[in-house]
Amino acid sequence: MATERATGTRKADIAKEEAAIASIVSADTEAEAPRTTAAIEPMPSTDHGPDGQTAADPWVGRRHLLDLDDVSREEIEVVFQTADEMKEVLSRPIPRLPTLRGHSVVNLFYEPSTRTRVSFEVSAKNLGADVINVTASGSSVEKGETLVDTVQTLQALGADLLVVRHKDSGAPYTVAQHTDISVVNAGDGTHAHPTQALLDAYTIREHFGRLDGLRVLIVGDIAHSRVARSDAWAFNALGAQVTFCGPPTLLPPTMLPGKRRCSPWPASVALDLDAAIKDVDVVMPLRVQLERQEGGRLASLREYARDFGINRARLETAARDAILMHPGPMNEGVEVDPDVAHGERSVVQEQVTNGVAIRMAVIYLLMMATAGRRA
Ligand code: CP
Repeated sequence: MATERATGTRKADIAKEEAAIASIVSADTEAEAPRTTAAIEPMPSTDHGPDGQTAADPWVGRRHLLDLDDVSREEIEVVFQTADEMKEVLSRPIPRLPTLRGHSVVNLFYEPSTRTRVSFEVSAKNLGADVINVTASGSSVEKGETLVDTVQTLQALGADLLVVRHKDSGAPYTVAQHTDISVVNAGDGTHAHPTQALLDAYTIREHFGRLDGLRVLIVGDIAHSRVARSDAWAFNALGAQVTFCGPPTLLPPTMLPGKRRCSPWPASVALDLDAAIKDVDVVMPLRVQLERQEGGRLASLREYARDFGINRARLETAARDAILMHPGPMNEGVEVDPDVAHGERSVVQEQVTNGVAIRMAVIYLLMMATAGRRA
């Protein structure tokens, strides 16, 4: 009986797989449309409702995703709803859609990356787009070509969407000013990393069903962290309370305690980790960015690990069902102990996995929002 059931299940899997292949093959045999007018098939969440509205309406008119400080709760919720659908696609035997067939996504990375670059590439390919990877090393940037000239060259070569990572804060804004195509910030200097924050918020929502009322503690090198800034905007927009905690030398000067403190980010500040971690729902240590330390901000890594490292004893004082997050890459033994980083409360791998569904959703929503402009 068990063997028959297993054979039946396998047959059903094969039938599902064949149907998925057939739908992709039939899409592949359609007449090739000119690149700039290739149609984009809406996901079910963007179907028109009885009131004529679409679920993706908050994204209409949005051209770029450069930061989250100008993104509303409604826009974030549409990203999540679309990511839920992308997750369903990702659970299929062949996790691909023909949606962006005939369109090109260019990953323009001036700084190293594993998670973000690969997940943007996988996401765009899953949506059927062509993907071109350009890194500073090996491109004409090495011969002195400027950022603006590089971007205009990529536009002339047919890019429909640019994903930009740069070591300088603001570089994706410069790119957006000098192109007609959509730009997604994949991390700029110490400024912003919007898709990381969206996938972080999505992962929290998967665990708790909401962010409203949750307490989130982000620990460490806040001064250099684009993730901390973007997380604060996203989590706050969704109703969570955010606290930044770290040594004074690793906090932005505008956040240091003082009578005239004027924080530009929606987060409070704590200097004592052992007090701040009590009963929080989410603990997120940040990587100590050794490449961005200047002027001896850190006494020593051993001292840092003692005072601000997340270890098992500390994590046990958080809420009973608290989760441990990290945007990666991790310095294990510095900001987080290895047994905690890979322990039962860790959702670090889920963050990475969710990055694909979230980036598929962002690429899809921007391409939908700007489809009329490209036609
Ligand atoms: N979290 C993050 O941006 O990782 P990468 O630098 O590997 O892309």
